Amino acid sequence: MNKNPSVAVVGATGAVGVEMIKTLEKRNFPVGKLTLLASSRSVGRKLPFRGKEISVTELTRDSFKGIDIALFSAGGNISREYAPIAAAAGCVVVDNSSAFRMDDAVPLVIPEINAGDVKLHKGIIANPNCTTAITLMALYPLHKAFHVNRIFASSYQAVSGTGAKAIEELKRQVGEVVSGKPVTKEVYPHQIAFNVLPQVDTFLPNGYTKEEMKMENEGRKIMHHPNFHASVTCVRVPVYRSHSVAVSAEFQKPASVESARAALKNAPGVDLVDEPENTKYPMPLFASEKYNCEVGRIRKDCALENGLAFWVSGDQLLKGAALNAVQIAEELLKD
Ligand code: A2P
Repeated sequence: MNKNPSVAVVGATGAVGVEMIKTLEKRNFPVGKLTLLASSRSVGRKLPFRGKEISVTELTRDSFKGIDIALFSAGGNISREYAPIAAAAGCVVVDNSSAFRMDDAVPLVIPEINAGDVKLHKGIIANPNCTTAITLMALYPLHKAFHVNRIFASSYQAVSGTGAKAIEELKRQVGEVVSGKPVTKEVYPHQIAFNVLPQVDTFLPNGYTKEEMKMENEGRKIMHHPNFHASVTCVRVPVYRSHSVAVSAEFQKPASVESARAALKNAPGVDLVDEPENTKYPMPLFASEKYNCEVGRIRKDCALENGLAFWVSGDQLLKGAALNAVQIAEELLKD
């Protein structure tokens, strides 16, 4: 890999794309040239990078000539169509959509957990689901210490996970409710302002949503743990940014609160925020725009043998998307 790679961001104008550009700059990723790609609607828009304004160009089949690394975040359909074209042009794709995550030929990577899998790529590397990534950042250090069998979890997911339009929807609806106007809906099937929606993504025949099953399926692949089980309820909440997850985990080995705290204190990418007596615990407001995920409310689970309950908050636009993608690109440079 070129030490000053030519990088493209596909979906550069979206909620995640903008964070990808900022993260490349903040982490001093040695970008040779940056190409910003989006739909024809965004052609001519300019986005800042290293003190300059870069014009957005339209994504086409010819966009990938001379590009070394392409960070994709424009939805699954765009990834399915263009990621193979980019890979065929000799570019390494880091794809934020779910399109290739469960493909055996595609590594699915959280660098703090399975960085070694990056080397196995054949042109495409998948970035995990945001809620899965944030949960595993807290769960994996505990798994290494005590070996996890299964988890029960509920998520509290911010609207920015749905994209820029959903942020606008929450803002607009809050204004409409406060000023007594009728509430208008465009993105979600129900009002999200002053409400919670127990649906993230579409329902599967087993009654879970697609989002809920990602925790088990992607968790197995990332942790190299084929027997991992996860029963999850994913909930959209009227929060702008950062997802939180309440987890009850059952382990093979006895797990004390003290040893869990010790395992998490030393874990990369994790901040232990666990002083409930001083009202200190992770919250989305404080996890936002942070690279590390915050873990707290650690306690013995009173309903599970060898169980721990905990709460994790993380910026899903960063660790759940843009940061993790840039970290994968950093691993590519190490190669
Ligand atoms: P655009 O702004 O031109 O529509 P979000 O998830 O925040 O809604 O962002 C989605 C991103 O994917 C945006 O950058 C959007 O660009 C981009 N995108 C959507 N459809 C296409 C398309 N057909 N071709 C290229 N980029 C697309």
